Formats: sequence, structure tokens, C-alpha cells
Amino acid sequence: MMQKRNLLLLGLLLFLGACTTSKVAQNQSKGVLAKHAMVVSAKEEASQIGLAILKKGGNAFDAMVATELALAVAYPNAGNIGGGGFMVYRLANGEKGALDYREKAPSKAHRDMYLDATGKVIPDKSTLGALAIGVPGTIDALFEVHKKFGSLPMAELIQPAIDLARNGLVITPLQADFYMGKNVAEIRKANNYVTPFDKGWKAGERFKYEELAQTLERIRDNGRAEFYEGETARRMVNYVQELGGILTLEDLKNYHSQWRTPITFNYKNYTISSMPLPSSGGLCLAQILKSVAPYKIGKYPHNGEKYIQLLVEAERRAYADRAYYLGDPDFVKVPTETLLSPEYLKERMSSFSWDKASKSSEIAHGKVVGYESDETTHYSIVDAQGNAVAVTTTLNTNYGSKVYVKGGGFFLNNQMDDFSIKPGEPNTYGLVGSEKNAIAPNKRMLSSMTPTIVEENGKLRMVIGTPGGSTIITSVLQCLLNVFEYGMTMQESVSKPRFHHQWLPDDVMFEPNGFDPAVVAKLKAKGYKPKEENFVIIGKVDAILVEKDGSLEGGADPRGDDTAVGF
Ligand code: GLY
Repeated sequence: MMQKRNLLLLGLLLFLGACTTSKVAQNQSKGVLAKHAMVVSAKEEASQIGLAILKKGGNAFDAMVATELALAVAYPNAGNIGGGGFMVYRLANGEKGALDYREKAPSKAHRDMYLDATGKVIPDKSTLGALAIGVPGTIDALFEVHKKFGSLPMAELIQPAIDLARNGLVITPLQADFYMGKNVAEIRKANNYVTPFDKGWKAGERFKYEELAQTLERIRDNGRAEFYEGETARRMVNYVQELGGILTLEDLKNYHSQWRTPITFNYKNYTISSMPLPSSGGLCLAQILKSVAPYKIGKYPHNGEKYIQLLVEAERRAYADRAYYLGDPDFVKVPTETLLSPEYLKERMSSFSWDKASKSSEIAHGKVVGYESDETTHYSIVDAQGNAVAVTTTLNTNYGSKVYVKGGGFFLNNQMDDFSIKPGEPNTYGLVGSEKNAIAPNKRMLSSMTPTIVEENGKLRMVIGTPGGSTIITSVLQCLLNVFEYGMTMQESVSKPRFHHQWLPDDVMFEPNGFDPAVVAKLKAKGYKPKEENFVIIGKVDAILVEKDGSLEGGADPRGDDTAVGF
């Protein structure tokens, strides 16, 4: 099962990686610079729409609403109204918070819903089609954010996405693969009518999203209730049930995103705030950074043997804990305090030796008690007042469940696969989970999304995040260390080649052509299992660095069409 999934993932990444490998290795110095405000996202159209809102006096939260909806149009494989995500914010006055708009299991979901009578996982059931869908959170979150922090009328924030959908977008060469091949075959399989995606679109063609424009118009006119109780809700539920799904109007009506307190911790002079559970992002990032902090990292050559070894061993231990201890905190008890305590982390690292690799089979979780692709998307925003938002949002895999709502013009997520569909069995990303992340009605599935904000000496320093499933955490980690320990600019930091380890499988994944073969050979001699898959990229980080004089530098990942814009 896992091998097949890894192959599928590799296939998904073939084209994207082939186009971007050379860009990964390149070393740009500074990215886009701006004096006042900036948006960095996966698509230029979405970044420009966010920027236009900032220019007309909107704040970072207004720009978030406009950018998120623009991504739902411009980047439909991951941007969404039928999915969910996480947002971490920092106000200009230093106050911080987080919004959890993760999908929930429908109320009719149950623990073994993806297993056959003999207890075996039924292939594709948790990833493709109507049963893979979690109750979407994105629209609720946008109205929630606007209610709390918005300054411009909601209709003004929604309108640019309506216009974008109606006028359509030209498909870029990097995007073309998303609109063809396996995705189209699966979209056809998941739906019972001919969707606009069925024809297979090529680079250079203009794709207009008229049905989505109309859905967004109804949301503009009728508000949040349109999506959760109105015509759009009825179309969604009727279609999902027609396809054999279990989503109900009641599930939609009961959905609410949740304000949460970010995980905040220190690394040397920096204060880092990131997403708490039900995303594992902040907790794992904190565990890894706290585990490596006692070492003189900046003295080790960047991406050299010692640096890779230290990070891999800290990652191995954090991901082992992730698999065992983490789940939706509204449903299960997680020993967060212990998992982050210096004594616990010291004990975890005590078995680390510079002489040879630890074995994941011997590490397991501490005593307290797959690899990834780019189907999620992240954007970072700083406004002219100094408010900042880091937002990661997703349908899970490309186009989610591939169910394209009839008469709605949008895809629904397949986030149910982020539960441990069978404890011990790897999900799409090769991640293994325990009972803590087992399916239960109305429960949120564990995530790896890591929207993160960094302060230095009490001032905003960085806004960062990335797609990439389980590799999200280690991509953010490396980009932070690139700046903290190696003094890189934001653009250099996001462009640098990346590696990844997640406990199981016990491999170290390297981006191709980015690492010194002699370093990889030395690691191999110590027992590490390097895996340099051709064409695989790790993450697409979009970040903003605040300079000492308050000006902004954007880091837009060259692995995609990502674009930083500012003024
Ligand atoms: N669906 C990927 C994640 O939430 O980490």
C-alpha cells in the first residue's frame, strides 16, 4: 500500500519537479523588497489581489480574505472554498493568536469506515470520492476573521475573486500538469457528470470558472449562511449524497472554526509562534528546534554532514512522538507540556551519536506516558500598520477528493485521509498514526501545517509557511535556520535545497542535485538511507522577512509560480 502511494506521489510530482530542479539549486540574493506592505503566495494573481486590498487601506486580515478566495480560483488544486486550513496572526501591538479552520469528520463517520470486513484498508476510499470528504472550514474562517479584524466591507473583499473567476486565468506551464493526466482521469472517476476539468487543459489556455463566480456571488450576497445552510449547502450535500457520501446539512450547519492560542517558544534571540493542535506543525517544530538549540549549528557547514545528521536525528524523534501522541485536543489528551520540556528533549537526544545513525525501529516514541507533495498552499502577508498573518490552506491532495460540486464550481477536500484510517497504516504521506488520531464523528484530523511568525527582540521578524504535508515542518525548520544560523536573506533561504526525515519510512529524502555527493556518501557510511528521488521537490515556502529598518523582503519559492508583491 505504502509503496503504491509513494509511486503515485512521485508521479504527481514528476512534471513540477522536472521544471523546477534547476531553480532549486540557484542562489538568488535578495527577493522582492517593499517599504510598507507585502503579500507572498503561490500565484501572482492572488498576490496582486491581496496587495490591491492593502493599497486601498485594507489590513492584513482583509487581504487574507481576498487572497484566500483568489487562490481558490487561481490555484484550484489546493486553494479552496471546499477545504480548510490554519492561520497564525500577530497584531502590530504584539498580540498573537491563531485560527483553526481544519475540516471535521462528518457526524456519520466512524473509526473503521475505510476498512473491509477483514480489517484491510480499502484502496483509495479515504482519498478519492465522496467518502473522503471532511466538513469544510474555509468560508466560516473568512467570515470569522472579518468579523474580528476586518476593516473593509466583505463584499469588497470577495469581488476580486468573482471577477477573476469570471474572466478566467491562463494556465501556466508549471500548472499544466495539474490540469491534465492522472488528475483528470481521477476527476472523471469521482464525478457522475462532465466537469469543466474533464477535457484536460494545456498551458496557455484560458480557463474560466463561471459556476464558481456565481457561488462566490451568492456568498457575497447571502454571507456565511449561503455556504453552510443556503443554496450552496444544498447543492453540496445533494451531490455528495448522490455519490454515496455521508455529509449532511446538519454537519455543515454545525461547523465552526476555532480561535486557538499559538504554540510560542524561544530559539536563541527569536520568539517563534506557530500552529497548535490539531496541527502537529507548531509542536513538532518546537521539539526539533529545542532539541538542536544546544548545538553550535552555525559552525557546521550548511547542508554538510553534521548539520544534516543533527537535524535528521531530532526530526526522527519528533515524528515518532507525533505518530504516537498527537491528535485533536478537543478529543484526546496530549502531553504537550512534557513533550516540549527541556528535560524530556534532552533525554530524547541522549541516544544520538555522531558516529552512526539511530534506527527508527529502535527509537519509537519517548516515555511520557511518506513523504509529501505540494498540494497544500501557504501565503504570508504584512500590512502597512505592521499586522502579520501566516496562512496555510488545503484540500489535502491535488483537487482533494476530486468531487467537483455540481452547480457549485468547486472541489471538496479529501482531508479524511489525514486521520489514522487504520492505526499503524501509513497515509498518503507515509505518515503513521495511533489511536489518538483515529476517526470519530466531528473530530478534526491531525495536520502538519505550520504557519509561523517569528519575533526578534519583541519585534516582527518573519512570516513563513509552506505546503508539503509531513515535509512542511522540516521545510519551515530549515528556512528558519538558514536565516537564524547562516544569515541568509529570505529569498536565499527559501531557494536552498532541502532534505527531510519523518521517522518512518527510515529514509532521508534529498532534493535532487542540491547536495554534495561526498556528504551523502558519508551519511550513508554511518547508516543513513539517502533517497534522492529524481524530480521530487520538498515544499514551496512563501515568506516575508522584516529588516532592521522595518522594510520587507519577500521570499517566493522558485519551485513554483510563487510571487511576492509589495509597496
Ligand atoms: N493535509 C496535509 C496536512 O494537513 O498536513
